[in-house]
This record gives sequence, structure tokens and C-alpha cells, in this order.
Amino acid sequence: MTKILDGKALALTLRSKVKEEVATLRDAGHRAPHLAAILVGEDGASMTYVNSKEKDCEYVGFESSVYRLGADTTEEALLSHIASINNNKNIDGLIVQLPVPKHIDATKITESIHPDIDVDGFHTLNVGKLTIDEDTYISATPFGVIMMLEEYGIETRGKHCVVIGRSNIVGRPMSILMSQGGRDATVTICHRHTHDVGAFTRIADIVIVAVGIPEFLKPDMVKEGATVIDVGITRVDADNKRGYLLKGDVEYDTVKEKCSAITPVPGGVGPMTRYGLLHNTLKSYKNKFNL
Ligand code: GUN
Repeated sequence: MTKILDGKALALTLRSKVKEEVATLRDAGHRAPHLAAILVGEDGASMTYVNSKEKDCEYVGFESSVYRLGADTTEEALLSHIASINNNKNIDGLIVQLPVPKHIDATKITESIHPDIDVDGFHTLNVGKLTIDEDTYISATPFGVIMMLEEYGIETRGKHCVVIGRSNIVGRPMSILMSQGGRDATVTICHRHTHDVGAFTRIADIVIVAVGIPEFLKPDMVKEGATVIDVGITRVDADNKRGYLLKGDVEYDTVKEKCSAITPVPGGVGPMTRYGLLHNTLKSYKNKFNL
């Protein structure tokens, strides 16, 4: 029987715990944690993500400020916006939703966010801390995946984990986390220049796919009994009310028959990512007040 790793249900439980913790803090007279998000432009998926983040904050009792800036916002204007948030002692977390328009240098933007409120964990200082296993903000998606593996009791020690994709947001931090002490997996990273991805995934106990190619992972690429984590979520044109369907990086119906545990899309990694951001914002807030 394949175990379905239900990120939606798990995230709901974890979010409820954050909500309770915030209520307790408020009862003790503390202010609410505060997340700020900046969205530049009108990318459909990004707008959806930012709306969800705003809703999540409301649910757990965080304050949130969303700055929706026009696609023609200059890099300079964005940097000055970030600087003013960095200096606002009442804001605990700041994210700039990626991607930003092409005329803005994304690296310059992530580097301009103060590391203490970089709840995305994208600043080089926080990435550096992650690589040497120091306490830091773990980016929301890798954090969500780790939580999911832990909560579902998926053994990682000594297992061979293949991560497909080497992005700064998911693949690379994921590979570092899986090899760290405590998880102790043997990790292989595959990417666009890997000659035969299947040769690696077929000998993997855990496959984590984050390539953004719908149904990339086929059943003949998976070992019987493996755990499959699908990070992908791509909008594919469809003849329905919304005009699109959400597809993961895994050919779900067929791969499910072969593996011992799998995440669905939607309802798998996505909700856990949303939880990750709440977790990091609360962590920043608690650090600030030594709570
Ligand atoms: N775009 C896609 N994923 C993310 C994320 O986790 N954080 C930000 N800021 N932008 C993203």
C-alpha cells in the first residue's frame, strides 16, 4: 500500500500549533509577529502565492503587509523600499516574491534584505550558515520537505537520496539538508547536464524532484518501494473554469503504483512550503524578543 504524504493535512495541524502559540504570546501581552511581502509585477502564480501567504498570516494571527508594486518599478525604488522595511523594528520577516522583472537584479535584491529578517533564507549569510550546519532560516520549501519526511517517519539515515534540480531555492539546499548529521543520507544531485537521470533515480531510496517539468519522473525511473517527493507545480493549459490544471514533476498515477510513499500535487509539498514561511517568521520574532 502506497503511503500518500498529505501535506495539506499536516500543514493544517502545524499551522494550528502556530496559531495557538501566537494566541498565548498575545495573551501574555506581546505584539503579533509581522511578515512583509513585496510583489513586483503581475505574474499570475506569484500573485496567487502572495495572496496565500497573506491568508496564512491572518489565520495564525500574524500581522502582514503586502506591497504590490508595478512591473516598471526600478531596482533603486525596490532597494529603497527594502531598506525602509529593514529599519522597521515592528517587522519580523521580509520576502520579495521571485521572480522579479528582468530589469531587476534578483541577487542584489536578496542580498539587500537584512539577514535577521530574511525568512526566505536566500541571503548568502543564511545560505552559508546552512552549509556549515549553523542555526539559520531554512528556505521554506526544503524546510517543508524535511518536516514532512520527519513527521511521516521516513527513514533517511544511510539512504540514497537523489535530488533532481540544483536551484538555489530548492535543489541545492535540499541536497545539503539531506546529507547533514541527523538525516545522514547519501546524496546525489542530478541536473540538466546529467546524461541519464534514470540511472541514478533507479538506485535511489528517496527521490526529490524539483525541475518544473510536468510529469518528468516516469515509473521506469523509480525503484520499487522508493519514497518520491514532488516539488514541482506547473500550470498547464486546460479546458476548465480556471483555464489551467496544476501538474507536478511526477507522473503521479503510474509512479504511485511503484513507490512506498509519495506526495500528491496539489496538496503535498505546496502547503508545507507555506507552513515553512510561518515557521521562519515566528522564529525571527522569537529571536528578536529572546522568547
Ligand atoms: N518564488 C518561488 N518560490 C519562492 C519562495 O519560496 N520565496 C520567494 N520569495 N519567491 C519564490
